[in-house]
Amino acid sequence: MTFSTLVSDELAKKFATEKGTPYERWVQAEGLDIISGHYVPNLRTVDLKPWARRGGKGVFINHEASRTSNDCYVCEIPPGGKLEPQRQLFEEMVLVLEGRGSTSVWNDKGQKLTFEWKAGAIFAIPLNAYHQHFNGSGAAPARYVGVTFGPQLLNMFDDVDFVFNTPRDFPARFSGEPDYFSNKGEQDGFLLRTNFVPDAVNLPLISAKERGAGGGHIRFNMAKGAMASHISQFPVGTYKKGHRHGPGAHVIVLSGEGYSLMWEQGQEPKRYDWEPGTLIVPPNNTFHQHFNSGPTPARYLAFKHSSPRNAQGVPLSWISSRLGGNQIDYADESDIVRNLYREAMARHGLEPKMDAIIAAELETLPPKPAMAG
Ligand SMILES: [Fe+2]
Repeated sequence: MTFSTLVSDELAKKFATEKGTPYERWVQAEGLDIISGHYVPNLRTVDLKPWARRGGKGVFINHEASRTSNDCYVCEIPPGGKLEPQRQLFEEMVLVLEGRGSTSVWNDKGQKLTFEWKAGAIFAIPLNAYHQHFNGSGAAPARYVGVTFGPQLLNMFDDVDFVFNTPRDFPARFSGEPDYFSNKGEQDGFLLRTNFVPDAVNLPLISAKERGAGGGHIRFNMAKGAMASHISQFPVGTYKKGHRHGPGAHVIVLSGEGYSLMWEQGQEPKRYDWEPGTLIVPPNNTFHQHFNSGPTPARYLAFKHSSPRNAQGVPLSWISSRLGGNQIDYADESDIVRNLYREAMARHGLEPKMDAIIAAELETLPPKPAMAG
């Protein structure tokens, strides 16, 4: 499937009544816009509109994924202000982009918990728990980005009152445990078991050679939810392997300088530049590849939807295309990719440090499959 493939007006007209979704109608009724692109140069400066119901300002960002997966929104809490409380029958993960403040969380039965955050913090809203965000500064706005499973619920039930006003606790996920939002940080393989990361920009990571370039990696599963997320970092002079997967991976740059390439099968890659705060949402089944072209390590956070996996539970985007997976080995990438990277590094007077990484890959690389006859 490619999003950019267009057909005749005649055929498009036959599907016109199926184009809009209950989710899109809900966003419109909230008085907010949906940015329908897959690249936002900076979430910290993206334009917001007043959001009367919540009491702040906001914008939704959603590519073709609104029909099937998750969404994303940016919200600003005014100086000295707060948002209205909300509960929702969908999961939400939050990254604080700017400012400082606090959040109170409670359910029908439990005690109210309040925790403080500042820019760089990550946390999740427990399913259907009431939550209310407060700006801790009287002078500066606080801004966060949330990724949610809202489109699925709104499209499935087409009933806003049900999704936002159902009196039902989910005590197995949250029941007012006093240390729920403490920074516990228990490590289990690649997974960090915690409901709160105070500083994602400086969080220590684990080595992950499988994705190329010896970068650090850590995965989260917060508030006992199904939404997956991870942080990846790669050293100066390196880039990750190209790959593709399903919709709804929201990649947010936390630190460093670089760019992503995105392309549909058989087409030329397009370049999307990074700075801290950039958002990239690769469309469904679209190849993409992330590059550190700056003088410091580069790090990003991804809030995700589920993606195809093999029978062992390994994402296809971690498996070589030579084995039928969706990851392109360095040995198989196009010259365009390497030349663009060399040029981008040269602008900083830097050289790629990929030779040893590419040589190491060759030692374990599966043979190229024979052409089908
Ligand atoms: Fe990806």
